[in-house]
Amino acid sequence: MDERTERVRRMYDRASGGYDRGERLQRFVIGDARPRLCGRAEGRVLEVAVGTGQNLGHYPPGVELTGVDLSPGMLARARARAAGLGLRAELVEGDAQELAFADGAFDTVLCALALCTIPDQRRALGEMRRVLRPGGLLLLVDHIEYTRWPLRVREAGKERPRRLPRTVAEEVGFGVEEHGRTALGFVEHVVARRTG
Ligand SMILES: C[S@@+](CC[C@H](N)C(=O)[O-])C[C@H]1O[C@@H](n2cnc3c(N)ncnc32)[C@H](O)[C@@H]1O
Repeated sequence: MDERTERVRRMYDRASGGYDRGERLQRFVIGDARPRLCGRAEGRVLEVAVGTGQNLGHYPPGVELTGVDLSPGMLARARARAAGLGLRAELVEGDAQELAFADGAFDTVLCALALCTIPDQRRALGEMRRVLRPGGLLLLVDHIEYTRWPLRVREAGKERPRRLPRTVAEEVGFGVEEHGRTALGFVEHVVARRTG
């Protein structure tokens, strides 16, 4: 694992104890994005960067759920949440940039509010494509860097804004079927399918 990814892991391990305190505020910002996207999941589902499992209760009954996250601290909370909800889910430690799953192993891949923290989002989206079966469903919701005046926001020290997950998804082999913005344009959701 490279140093940047290791740093992200340490950061989320430290933050894991307090992460869910922001759940209410986040709901205000992202609206009903969680139930709306999770509700479309079908079959064998992989949630990448599952965190503390805030999406777990929103999946339809009958899906076969696997979650992966870099941080053992976040995963411990996700496991406790799954147990509390009486859900069966395989929750494992791993790196989104190097997924330990076979090609075409899933019908749906979902990733929420995490691509913005993964150092190499192109590699992560390439891995999501690899583990999806051809025609499989990709569901994303993420913060984006707003580039239009007057709300121009950019990470300190970066010359160019982070690229839109939707654009990168198209480049690595997804066909985008639907996308839209919430939270004054700061959060984008994407529904796409693996092409080829
Ligand atoms: C902002 S939290 C979002 C958690 C969850 N998806 C949600 O919607 O609440 C970002 C999560 O991404 C995870 N993460 C960051 N980089 C990762 C990577 N390379 N591979 C897997 N998980 C990663 C962090 O550990 C953290 O749990």
